[in-house]
Amino acid sequence: MRPPAMPPAPPTPAPVWEIIHGFRRYWALVAALDLGLFEALASGPLDAAALAEAVGVDIHRAGLLADALAAMELLTATPEVPAVGPESQPPPAPAARPTSPASPASADHAAGSGRLVYNLGLVAANYLLAGGQRSMARLVRAAPGPHERWPELAETLRRGAPSARVEDDPGAFYPNLARGTAPVQRVVAAAVARELAAPSGHQALVVDLGAGAAPWALAFLDAWPDARGLAVELPEVVHVTREAVAADPAGDRLDVVAGSFHRVELPQGGADVVVLGHVLRIEPRTAARRLVARAAAALRPGGTLVVADYPRPEVPSPAATTETLMALTILATTGGQGAFRADDLHGWARGAGLVPGPTYTPLPGQIVLTATRPGPGAGPAAAARPVPRPGLRPLGSVYPPSKSRE
Ligand SMILES: C[S@@+](CC[C@H](N)C(=O)[O-])C[C@H]1O[C@@H](n2cnc3c(N)ncnc32)[C@H](O)[C@@H]1O
Repeated sequence: MRPPAMPPAPPTPAPVWEIIHGFRRYWALVAALDLGLFEALASGPLDAAALAEAVGVDIHRAGLLADALAAMELLTATPEVPAVGPESQPPPAPAARPTSPASPASADHAAGSGRLVYNLGLVAANYLLAGGQRSMARLVRAAPGPHERWPELAETLRRGAPSARVEDDPGAFYPNLARGTAPVQRVVAAAVARELAAPSGHQALVVDLGAGAAPWALAFLDAWPDARGLAVELPEVVHVTREAVAADPAGDRLDVVAGSFHRVELPQGGADVVVLGHVLRIEPRTAARRLVARAAAALRPGGTLVVADYPRPEVPSPAATTETLMALTILATTGGQGAFRADDLHGWARGAGLVPGPTYTPLPGQIVLTATRPGPGAGPAAAARPVPRPGLRPLGSVYPPSKSRE
């Protein structure tokens, strides 16, 4: 006789803990950034005492934060090798930079298992140092939107809008977001600009709508040394655009206009590239469609619309976490409807007389869609790289990160 079937064992609660840990991990990372902990390790490994001194925190507390960052694989933590006689010398461990010896009291506090030497992990070295080429240090704080909107998410979902929308006070939030996104977007935009051949026979014009710190316009002007550009940004945020333009060698070819991309006069049929970088998702659908039509009307025949964004996936899955949570962020913090789908954009582009072109996937979740205005003079992308159907092209030069420190 068969034994009675056992009820299936419940799954482990680990996924729930992982979600709770997500909150802890985020704030541990923000604390590390606020304390300048990654910069403290930028020139080499430190033991807990030296790290504590560098960030101005008691050794016990600094050690706990560093341990958490090591558990998150942002730091490595290696036991320090005690100085012993030459015969019993173990293999060399990372040498900590010499510092003032820890006080006896603080050494007591560094409880437990002996002294550790902390070093930057590759992800931290590539993305979390303030001045790095691909730095996301500012973006960490800005990417979730205003933090205070998240605890009220249930109420926002019931009501249909957050208690305060980012766009009601653009100067309070967008400058941080624009400065935060710029370093990585500059690298992404440079890779996309390399894919599109510069037009010949006339001076190319690149238009960047909702430019922020203008990573897109500046990358195109860098790649196309004879081109000029036009960046449009809200009056409350345009100082960020001007700052970036002033600091960039290509900036003297970029005109900056303060105003809304819905109203500013655009060069009708004069642009070779119009960029909508992470702006469509914050617009209600009708406004997004109108904006695509405005952008399309600004293109000359052969010109290309470039849309960088995180379209909502057709089917949610762990592989589509970034774009799915990005859509929820829009809902939680703005009056936007939580992102469009790639099909929506293609429909809007076709409706505006454009032909969808290649779609690139430069970073996890981020998609760069292109569409071209057909016509004689067939311009940069269409003529140089005909693509029979929209497909996903990874831009390998952007991701994965380099194996070396910046
Ligand atoms: C997420 S940031 C993207 C910045 C940049 N395009 C990028 O891809 O990194 C969105 C930008 O759009 C700007 N923006 C929002 N609404 C706008 C409007 N109606 N007119 C012009 N700019 C606008 C914001 O101020 C902000 O700088």
